[in-house]
Amino acid sequence: MLSLLLALLTGSAASVPLFERQATAYPDGSKAGPAPKPEWLRSLNASKLAGQIPAIPPSTVSNGNIVYPSGVDLQSICSWTLTGCFGPHDIQEAPDGMYGVSFDDGPLADSPLLYDFLKNNNQTATHFFVGNAVRDNPQIASQAFANGQHIGVHTYTHPYMTTLSDAQVLGELGWTMQIIHDLSGGYVPRFWRPPYGDADNRVRAIAENVFGLTLVGWNQDSDDWCLNDSGGSSCGSEGPSNLAALESEISRWINSSSSPGIIGLEHELSAQAINAFINTYPKLDSQRWDAR
Ligand SMILES: *[C@@H]1O[C@H](CO)[C@@H](O)[C@H](O)[C@H]1NC(C)=O
Ligand SMILES: *[C@@H]1O[C@H](CO)[C@@H](O)[C@H](O)[C@H]1NC(C)=O
Ligand SMILES: *[C@@H]1O[C@H](CO)[C@@H](O)[C@H](O)[C@H]1NC(C)=O
Ligand SMILES: *[C@@H]1O[C@H](CO)[C@@H](O)[C@H](O)[C@H]1NC(C)=O
Ligand SMILES: [Zn+2]
Repeated sequence: MLSLLLALLTGSAASVPLFERQATAYPDGSKAGPAPKPEWLRSLNASKLAGQIPAIPPSTVSNGNIVYPSGVDLQSICSWTLTGCFGPHDIQEAPDGMYGVSFDDGPLADSPLLYDFLKNNNQTATHFFVGNAVRDNPQIASQAFANGQHIGVHTYTHPYMTTLSDAQVLGELGWTMQIIHDLSGGYVPRFWRPPYGDADNRVRAIAENVFGLTLVGWNQDSDDWCLNDSGGSSCGSEGPSNLAALESEISRWINSSSSPGIIGLEHELSAQAINAFINTYPKLDSQRWDAR
């Protein structure tokens, strides 16, 4: 339920044992899968003993494709990348009539343009933050916290999560939660979005059982990451070739059926992507979407 998602997204400021020991330094993000804190490893060990974590081997990336060792049953592992599978607790659409506004990959240099616009319009959105970007841009992160924006986890270094060991998965999620906790005054995210959507039942189970994180996907993808700030497109025919094409795609969602509701995938990577949201925003209201 998106309403539940929205109610819980900012979590509670109560202390959470896995994060209450504030960090004095954060991983530098140069390597995927930073070493986890011992308390996260202890919690993972307990989850494994309780039979909560399926023993699925990590995948590898081969010629740009996710590949599992032979013998792995691709249906039973619920790989979103390979079979489009969602787990029973995953959220990928909104209730009828509701429009979930979400942005990935921040906080970045262009993000204040978005945060100022949202604030001026009394609008909240869900920002799936990259831990290493929070480390690089703490003042920009603070602007989002101060505006009451909803913050989720988009991992620390933006890897294909199914390629990582269990301990590396812990480090990616845990350090992102830790830095958000420490810089926001004690808020702990309740939701995460895997980079590229790449998740399987092992990665899902670690996120859910160790960190209480529910996976959030999307049902409309803007491919707005294609546009760069020089006004060009970096992904050929895969996505929009310019700002007008991106606005037309977002307008198409806004014009489409209100059932199911929409969770749109957008990014705060470039001023162009943010401007496409800003320019189409009035249509959300005119088409009577309940945007949150
Ligand atoms: C977790 O379990 C592994 C293997 O069973 C063990 O080597 C490690 O010491 C344990 N870690 C903690 C923090 O309990
Ligand atoms: C936002 O909320 C404030 C305070 O309630 C109000 O004064 C302002 O007009 C609102 N702005 C918009 C764009 O709705
Ligand atoms: C932006 O896109 C244009 C057109 O595709 C391309 O020529 C240019 O190299 C890109 N710039 C960057 C910084 O990626
Ligand atoms: C969306 O609907 C509006 C108003 O009905 C229309 O002007 C616009 O062309 C439509 N846009 C798309 C992309 O379908
Ligand atoms: Zn991303």
